[in-house]
Amino acid sequence: MRLKLDISNIQGFLSDGQLSELRREAGEALKRLSSGSGAGAEFTGWMRPLDKGPELELIRQNAGKIQKESDALVVIGIGGSYLGARAALEFVKSPLYNAFDKDTPDIFFVGNSMSPDAINETIALLGDRDFSINVISKSGTTTEPAVAFRVFRSMLEKRCGREASAKRIYATTDREKGVLRAMARQEGYQCFAVPDDVGGRYSVLTPVGLLPLAVAGVDIDEMLAAARGVFERPCAGDTDDPVIGYAAARSGLYRAGKRVEILAAFEPSLRFVCEWWKQLFGESEGKNHKGLFPASVINTADLHSMGQYIQDGERILTETFLKVEKGHGDITVPDMPDYADELDYLSGRSFTWANHQALAATQTAHAAGGVPNMRIDLPDRSAGSFGELVTFFELACAVSGYMLGVNPFDQPGVEEYKKNMFSLLGRPGY
Ligand code: PA5
Repeated sequence: MRLKLDISNIQGFLSDGQLSELRREAGEALKRLSSGSGAGAEFTGWMRPLDKGPELELIRQNAGKIQKESDALVVIGIGGSYLGARAALEFVKSPLYNAFDKDTPDIFFVGNSMSPDAINETIALLGDRDFSINVISKSGTTTEPAVAFRVFRSMLEKRCGREASAKRIYATTDREKGVLRAMARQEGYQCFAVPDDVGGRYSVLTPVGLLPLAVAGVDIDEMLAAARGVFERPCAGDTDDPVIGYAAARSGLYRAGKRVEILAAFEPSLRFVCEWWKQLFGESEGKNHKGLFPASVINTADLHSMGQYIQDGERILTETFLKVEKGHGDITVPDMPDYADELDYLSGRSFTWANHQALAATQTAHAAGGVPNMRIDLPDRSAGSFGELVTFFELACAVSGYMLGVNPFDQPGVEEYKKNMFSLLGRPGY
């Protein structure tokens, strides 16, 4: 495992004795998770990432077909049905993937809001280009993706008719149940199964994330191999296991009165990793009036806004920094000695180096200001690093959830808003 965890900046907030007791507790929770004896054990299929086999082959084949036939893929899904794919695409490729990557189809994410502007802008960007649709919904009944699917399906049908458009629609949904599965059967859409034992927020390394990522040319084999590596890590359950270290430290800080955990990244390409992480931890832990509230910042931009609060506001915060050792490239500050900008001390210095100094300076300042913090180091922005990072977080989240005394795999609270919305929208039976 190449990912590293540094928790030295929680010294002074948790004693060595407390930390070792927390580690012991985390180890017990990990055992319950691994043996399938904890709450929600029927939703731990994400602990067996796909290896070779017909399902992966089907993903590869259809990704190749989409690449050949289409200039763009419209990915329709919300929450766990889209955040992971978008996080991976932006991390491994770029937030500007559509502008830069001309060898593979553009990817548009829709159906993740009820905004007409978001839909209209995507339609305008698609123009008259050939596109395919990947509609992703485990339940098959979520309103936002379902109505967006109607819009883009009707566009395709107007262009090429019902039968031909069905050949460009790929449905990722429950193996048996739900409206989407029934429609897919009726219309003959190519289907991919969201495994029964994997919840939305844990599904990025299933067909939910893998199909769009394969279309975008992301190395899904590298991603899955790295994920498997996390489950096979020799240090599992030991004191130097980063999964144990992270779960133990954040649980201890919560018990010590910290109420908010901020994930602090220093790369705009990690914005959606943060969004994915917020869903993972928020939906997994926010239950029975308990749980750290997950928030995020993208620095150094947010140091010029949220930085004030973090340094000096309510002392209910803990922070987890994400450091990427090496991005896709680097740039140096030009040597321009005859100007009055007083920047000669940085001449020839790399932006990566400066970014890392900013991160180190922030960690120290925030710890001194009463915000204990940890740091996760990633070697690069490769597909492997992404696979490791999401698997590390999923494991740590499940362990933290058990330490908190909640089921980290259900989401009863999400259903409440859905019921109210159905009623206001006039859905029969609500
Ligand atoms: O994690 C979850 O379960 C949710 O966020 C779902 O992913 C989200 O509500 C979308 O659900 P579905 O895939 O059923 O459309």
